[in-house]
Amino acid sequence: MVRCLARASASAPGAAARVELKRRLFDLSHSVLMEIMEQTRNTYSDDADEDMSKEAREMKEIIEEIIPLVGVANRKLADVVKRRNLFFDKMIDAERQKLKQLERKKGEVDASDSADEKMGMIGVMLSLQKTEPDVYMDTFISALVPNLLGVGTETTSTTMEWAMSLLLNHPDVLKKAQEEIESIVGGGRLVDKNDLPRLPYLHCIISETLRLYPAAPMLLPHEASTDCKIHGDCKIHGYDVPAGSMILVNAYAIHRDPATWKDPEEFRPERFEHGRAEGKFMMPFGMGRRVCPGENLAMRTMGLVLGALLQCFDWTRIRDAEVDMATATGTIMSKAVPLEALCKRRANMSAVLQKI
Ligand code: HEM
Repeated sequence: MVRCLARASASAPGAAARVELKRRLFDLSHSVLMEIMEQTRNTYSDDADEDMSKEAREMKEIIEEIIPLVGVANRKLADVVKRRNLFFDKMIDAERQKLKQLERKKGEVDASDSADEKMGMIGVMLSLQKTEPDVYMDTFISALVPNLLGVGTETTSTTMEWAMSLLLNHPDVLKKAQEEIESIVGGGRLVDKNDLPRLPYLHCIISETLRLYPAAPMLLPHEASTDCKIHGDCKIHGYDVPAGSMILVNAYAIHRDPATWKDPEEFRPERFEHGRAEGKFMMPFGMGRRVCPGENLAMRTMGLVLGALLQCFDWTRIRDAEVDMATATGTIMSKAVPLEALCKRRANMSAVLQKI
């Protein structure tokens, strides 16, 4: 993505390219997940405008066909879902072939030991079929893959879109994050995953974004498995919850509770600095046994992507007016108006940007 943006800004009038950040961030999150599933990275083309693999592009086209048809139960939807399933079957077969080749090379060595390194997630699950055939069935794998793509893509990309929107409306925060990256990473190389623990202010920006705009504001519906009573220092203390009740947790309201957060509506990443928000109640990824299993992946992806965007480019709004922060309706809290912005290469990164 950085390469595409660098090229676009180099040829734009005034060296400032107008970027559809919503689409870019969605494509990137999708591409990251596809890469995790089947290690498609090595098939990337050198084409300047190509920022995802062939397989990721095909899958994205299928998803884009499915989205407007969901809820409209009709033949068209059945057709495209069939196409999607065929695509996944092909993907699983290709991974199976790769695993076989790997096993041949390794002779009698247990392939599951080496699979994590060389294979994508599908390959790892296929190698586990040997030891746990009842769990890692093909049907299980082909159900899990679209599920992860479905829940992992838009949540991550929407959160990054909110973060960029907040930064565009708070240029002082944006500048402070750039200064942090400049002093810790410098301009001689791209930020990488090992830098993330050393970029606390960037982390505060992500936390503050997740507080204000949790991608799943009502988490996922839960169900009380037994009769229970709510205890605690809260308005619903003493309530009975019968077994079988559907529970919706309003994380959005909890994150903006003035009893916990000073000026809760304000975007102020500093509130998380030096562990100041420790112990305060926040649950953008849910909690307990059904907590989001993608939290680590999402935090790393968001850290790396936002870090690289801020390190390599200066960002400004398209117009003088503030970015519209209205939310759209739906289970995922996305922006009503897709984010666009102007990006310009940063002078201290020009040597790096020329090489990538
Ligand atoms: C910023 C990004 C993300 C946010 C805010 C987020 C948030 C959530 C939330 C709130 C839940 C429900 C937890 C509950 O009800 O207690 C959830 C569940 C889940 N998430 Fe995420 N998620 C994100 C990224 C991801 C990614 C990248 C993946 C995987 C690729 C993922 C996979 C899942 C799965 C599989 C579940 C269901 C878990 C279960 O029901 O046991 N999520 N996520």
